[in-house]
Amino acid sequence: MAMFYFANWKMYQSFVSIKKFVQDYKKYGLSNPHNDTYLGIAASYEHLYFLQQKLQRTSVLLGAQDCSFFLQGAYTGQVALQSLQEMQVSFCIIGHSEARRYLGHTDQDIFLKFKMLVAAGISPILSIGETLQQKESGQTLQVLCDQLEQVLQFLQSYQGDLIIFIAYEPLYAIGTGIVPQEKELRDVFYCLHSMIQQLPAQQNIRFLYGGSVSQSTIVQLKNIKEISGFLIGKASIDFQELKKIVES
Ligand code: PGA
Repeated sequence: MAMFYFANWKMYQSFVSIKKFVQDYKKYGLSNPHNDTYLGIAASYEHLYFLQQKLQRTSVLLGAQDCSFFLQGAYTGQVALQSLQEMQVSFCIIGHSEARRYLGHTDQDIFLKFKMLVAAGISPILSIGETLQQKESGQTLQVLCDQLEQVLQFLQSYQGDLIIFIAYEPLYAIGTGIVPQEKELRDVFYCLHSMIQQLPAQQNIRFLYGGSVSQSTIVQLKNIKEISGFLIGKASIDFQELKKIVES
C-alpha cells in the first residue's frame, strides 16, 4: 500500500531555507525500498514557482496550501486554480484549521474549492478535525461528519480516478506535541473508512493523519494500518528531520 508524506510548510520557509532543503534532498535523497513512498510539499504561493523549478526531474509532488473558489477576476489577494495548474501543482490543501480560524473559511467555501480542484484534476487534501473541547464532550464523530457532509454527497456521483485525500487533523494535536491515543485514532479512522464504503471512488480515497507528526510520534502512528500517509507541519521544514520520519 502506497504511503504519502505531505510536508505542510505553512509560513515557515524562506527562499534561503528552501534552497538548503532542496540541496539536502538532492544530496541525501530518501530511501524508498518498495517504490511506493510519495513525498509531497505544500509550499506557500510566493515559493511555488521557485520550488517547482528546483524540483524539476525529481519525484517530489508539488502542492499548494489553499486556492480561491473564484476562477478569475477582481479578487485581490487570492490565488487562481489556473496558475496552480500551470505550475503543475498536483495537490492542494483545503480546510486547514489555520485557514478556518485565521481566514474564516467555512465548510461551504471549502466544498466549492473541493469541487473546483476535482474538476481541475488537482488532488484535494481536505483537512478536518475537532477541538479539544469537542473531543472531550464526545462530539468528535459528529464534527467530522458535519465537515464531510457536502463532500460525501458530491462523491456519491463522482466516478473519476483522481486520488482524494482526507486528512484527520485534530486541532489540539496541531503544533502541540500531543497526538491522540492509538485507540482513539483507530476508532476515528474506522468510522471514516465506513463512511466511504459505498462510494464509487472509494478505491481512490486515502486517509491521512496530521498533527505533531515527528520522529518521536511516527513509529506509533505507522502502526495504524488505516492511515495511508501523513501531513507534517513543523517537522517537515528541515530535510534531515523529514527524512527520519519517512524512513522510520
Ligand atoms: P504540525 O502541523 O505537524 O506542526 O503539528 C500539522 C498540520 O497543521 O498540518
